[in-house]
Amino acid sequence: MGIYLDNAATSYPKPEAVANAVYDFMVNNGTSSGRGSYKKAMQSDYIIYECRKLIGKLFNFDDPKRVVFTSNITDSLNIAMRGILKENDHVITSSLEHNAVWRCLKTLEKERNIKIDTVECTEDGITNPEDLRKYIREDTALIVFTQASNVLGTIQPIREIGKIARENNITFLVDAAQSAGAMDIDVQRDNIDILAFTGHKSLMGPMGTGGLVINTDIYITPQKAGGTGGDSAYEYQPDYYPNHLEAGTSNVSGIAGLREAVKFLNKEGIEKIHNREKELTEYALRKLQTVKDIEIYGPKDTDKMLSVISFNIKDKRPEDVGAILDQKYDIMLRAGLHCAPTAHEIIGTKQRGTLRIGIGYFNKKEDIDKLVDALNNL
Ligand SMILES: Cc1ncc(COP(=O)(O)O)c(C=O)c1O
Repeated sequence: MGIYLDNAATSYPKPEAVANAVYDFMVNNGTSSGRGSYKKAMQSDYIIYECRKLIGKLFNFDDPKRVVFTSNITDSLNIAMRGILKENDHVITSSLEHNAVWRCLKTLEKERNIKIDTVECTEDGITNPEDLRKYIREDTALIVFTQASNVLGTIQPIREIGKIARENNITFLVDAAQSAGAMDIDVQRDNIDILAFTGHKSLMGPMGTGGLVINTDIYITPQKAGGTGGDSAYEYQPDYYPNHLEAGTSNVSGIAGLREAVKFLNKEGIEKIHNREKELTEYALRKLQTVKDIEIYGPKDTDKMLSVISFNIKDKRPEDVGAILDQKYDIMLRAGLHCAPTAHEIIGTKQRGTLRIGIGYFNKKEDIDKLVDALNNL
């Protein structure tokens, strides 16, 4: 099966119950949700409703209708940013954004003349929330921050940033791609107005699932209009949630898998998962440091990061190392910019990129040992 260390891209393997739920839905139900009133269609509705409820609860949010499903977090972030930002608006973001945020903002800069300020951070990706204050302006409409960098793993001070956003009445959008399922998130405690998540990373669900938790009354202009299964004579997208931001047939099979994934997370407990991944990351940092000519980026402190480690081997191209690890040792990790070019400006690897491991709940210490042995043999 090989050694999979690319969980920051997508988690693998998934809990067996997740795959079984997708299969079971496709074989034994297979009906659309919100479109019919026969028994099977009602079961479909229930799967989606229960998943909204479970996702909401996971993030301490008690209005399932405002848990909106999308196809992934890229979709979620585009819906939120495009739905909120208007002509000439100002937005503040971090220096570590994934292209899911960054490209969308740069596109809106062209399309709507929005103004973007990025908050500086240290070489380890640590942001001082107080640095944000100097960028706040009358016309600041949005603060958008990734909760954990997908290049350095660094956790951002979301609660403090959210507090500053609240004090200034600015909507706060959080990219929880790397953090959802990997650490405790509470949209109330953490002052998050809109939480964007993807189903297939640490939430352990299927690809093609994601969403938004809308903990705010701000109007989000829908980017899509279409069938919702109800009020069909009304000619516009309904204003009520979740239909306001959901048009077209839902991915019920994927959501059936995501529902089982959240049940699995609840059964294991986020704290246990977090601690397990932390232990493995600590182990990996310690072992990797013994590799000759290695340069490890980021905080190297598991209190400040999630289970993502970027590194390089002196005088070697990350792509070449990645290819050898794959071909000779069957070790899967990622080489390159990881869709987050600005993070590489911070660590000086924009031209070269890095090798990145993403440690998951199902990895073992032996996986790290095998990686370190292979790196030593290079
Ligand atoms: C921080 C961050 N944001 C956004 C994304 C995009 O995720 P998806 O491809 O599921 O939309 C990723 C995935 O790599 C990520 O790590």
